[in-house]
This record gives sequence, structure tokens and C-alpha cells, in this order.
Amino acid sequence: MVVTEHETTPVADSDAASPLVDKSGSRVREMFRQIAPRYDAMNHLLSLSIDRYWRWRTVRILKLDSAAPVLDTCTGTGDLAIAIAKKAPKNVRVVGSDFCHAMLEIAIRKRRAGTTSESIEFIEADSQSLPFPENRFQCVTVAFGLRNVTDTDQGLREMTRVCTPGGQVVVLEFSQPRLIGLRQAYGFYFRNVLPRIGQLFARNDKSAYKYLPESVGQFPDGQALADRMTAAGLTDVRFTPMTFGVATIYQGTKPVAYQGTKVSTTESTE
Ligand SMILES: C[S@@+](CC[C@H](N)C(=O)[O-])C[C@H]1O[C@@H](n2cnc3c(N)ncnc32)[C@H](O)[C@@H]1O
Repeated sequence: MVVTEHETTPVADSDAASPLVDKSGSRVREMFRQIAPRYDAMNHLLSLSIDRYWRWRTVRILKLDSAAPVLDTCTGTGDLAIAIAKKAPKNVRVVGSDFCHAMLEIAIRKRRAGTTSESIEFIEADSQSLPFPENRFQCVTVAFGLRNVTDTDQGLREMTRVCTPGGQVVVLEFSQPRLIGLRQAYGFYFRNVLPRIGQLFARNDKSAYKYLPESVGQFPDGQALADRMTAAGLTDVRFTPMTFGVATIYQGTKPVAYQGTKVSTTESTE
């Protein structure tokens, strides 16, 4: 495992004792349905538009060196798919998938005739059972989406399965700053300021912006998430914290000799 920029070490999680956040598919889909019309504006406001920079950094590490298509899972309103289409050679098809119809409707409206976004294909699909054959996409990405997928490991396995051998799986996700002081200030902003601003905008669902800090607090980051990617069958997994560790890009390669991963199941007594 290679760590770039600066090394991060796991720290005690202040939310570790909180009850587990409800990430059932129906709850998550409904939450994004409610905030879909304001999602982009809120994203840029709450992150002071740094989210655009994070997506730009993510696109920059993609090696688009074959004619195979690219898949952006949990694409939401499509910003990462659109940014990928800008960079991709003309013959490379970009596909965005998400299970929330309302988010995809906005993504579809953002496509512009005569631009690279025109040909992006948006597909309604659950990331835990992607409707694609294995070895299809040269890069498979997810931005701020994996944290919301009910079964993180199944989401990672599916991303790996549909990736071509030698291709890249790239995850952009919130993480927790390690720097003492900044970590506390960030925690305060995330838990107290952000949900209040969020509620002003997302009037229909007051829990949506409470969900954000809770889900980030309970999601693995740094080495812990890198290990989950390795367990999903990826090799050469590395991660790059950005903006003092507020977000991190993780990347792994699907091995040429990939055989799939063994899914551990609990033995049924029935
Ligand atoms: C925070 S948004 C991120 C959207 C976009 N990738 C971005 O960078 O702004 C998370 C998205 O993940 C989607 N999502 C969550 N769980 C999913 C699942 N199991 N399958 C497909 N999409 C899912 C939600 O519908 C939502 O659009």
C-alpha cells in the first residue's frame, strides 16, 4: 500500500458509539429523491466549491488508455461522469449509474448537445448488483457514493467485477482530518453548522444533512478503506488525502489474474 501526500493513521472515531446510521436502500434513495433539486447548489455551498477541485483531481488520475468504456457509479447528478467525458478520448463511452431516478433526471438535463457530455449514458442501477458483464469498463469510479451503499464490500466487489483486468477502480470519499485542532473544528462544522445550513435548503427532509456527518463518522477511511478495496480483489491500492484529509482519493488496480472474491456467508440453520 502506498500513501501519497501524507501518511494517515487510524484514530479513535468520535461517532463510534453512536447508533448505526440507517443506510437501507429505500431510506437512502428517498433521501436523495428529496434533496435532488437542491443537491448541486448545496454541494458547492457547503464545500465552498472545493468539491469541483476534488472531482478534477480524481479525473486527473484516470488512465484512459483503451477504447473500453468508463463507468461512474452512484453518479447522482452526473458531475464526475461529465468531468470524465471531458477528459476521455472521443471514442470512449462514459456511463453513469445510480439508483435514484430524481438524481439521474438532473444528470440527464445537464447533458449539452455538441459537447462531450452529449453522449453520456445514464442508467438506473443499484451499485450492489450492476447490470453489466464482467471485465467491461477500463475505469470504474465512485464519488461520495460508496459511503451510502448499504453493503460497502458488495459495492466494491461489483465495481471490481465490471472493471477490465488491469483497469482502475477509483473512489473519492469524505474522510476525517488527522491534524489535532483541525479535526475538532471540522467535526464541529460538520455536526453543528452544516446540518443547520442544510436544513434551510432541504426543508422536506430535516434528517438529510444530519445523515451526512453521521455517515462520514461511521465510514472507514484511510488505510481501513484501502484494506476493504484489497479485500474486494484489487491490488496496488493507494490513497491520497486532499485538503487536510477532508476528502481522500483511493485507487486500485484489478489484477490480470483476477478470479473473483470469495463472499463469506453465514451458514443457515434452516
Ligand atoms: C452524495 S451523492 C453523490 C453523487 C455524485 N457522485 C457526486 O459526486 O456528487 C450519492 C449518490 O449515491 C447514490 N446511491 C447510494 N446508494 C446507492 C446504491 N446502492 N446504488 C446506486 N446508487 C446509490 C444516491 O442515489 C446518490 O445519488
